[in-house]
Amino acid sequence: MTTPSETRVNLSEIMRATEANLLGTVHGGNIMKAVDSCAGVVANRYAGGPAVTAALDEMSFLTPVRVGDILHTSAQLNWAGRSSMEVGVRVEVDRWDTHTDRVHVASAYLVFVAVDEHGKSKAVPPLDLETPEEKRRFREAEIRREHRLASRAAIEALRAEGDDA
Ligand SMILES: CC(C)(COP(=O)(O)OP(=O)(O)OC[C@H]1O[C@@H](n2cnc3c(N)ncnc32)[C@H](O)[C@@H]1OP(=O)(O)O)[C@@H](O)C(=O)NCCC(=O)NCCS
Repeated sequence: MTTPSETRVNLSEIMRATEANLLGTVHGGNIMKAVDSCAGVVANRYAGGPAVTAALDEMSFLTPVRVGDILHTSAQLNWAGRSSMEVGVRVEVDRWDTHTDRVHVASAYLVFVAVDEHGKSKAVPPLDLETPEEKRRFREAEIRREHRLASRAAIEALRAEGDDA
């Protein structure tokens, strides 16, 4: 069995001018792509095959990232269900022109679903929780999952009502 810390992936890249927005700082969509890519590596490896992004929770950008900064993305599995997995991602930067501490840019939680060759969900192994931190993250992920599924069900119910009206 695999523990959450064994699933951890760290990726680092220099931000290029091609990633800039009209202000000259890095476009948020590029940061979201880095988040999805890093989380995807975690999910695909854990699933032992393809896993697709099913959901990305709210993501706040805490500080601008500049061209030349080194973007560090780290991700690990928080929770695994039958076929779905929650991956937590933290994004930080090293500024290109100083030796200050790394700056926190954003954090995000993503849901991936392991799929077979027909795109149908398929089972993943259970996660082995060892440390109190891993257990805490797992429990918090369960709460977020309940919220995601409840909000999806409520919206579907509202739409069904609309169809009947
Ligand atoms: C993700 C996808 C495979 C799920 O399909 P589905 O018919 O809902 O599959 P299932 O009903 O078998 O559910 C699979 C699991 O996903 C979970 N799930 C599906 N949508 C979810 C969501 N929005 N939030 C949280 N969990 C979700 C289910 O709870 C279930 O979890 P479990 O197996 O661990 O209990 C399907 O919606 C899909 O292919 N989406 C497109 C994904 C994609 O292409 N992403 C790339 C970016 S476009």
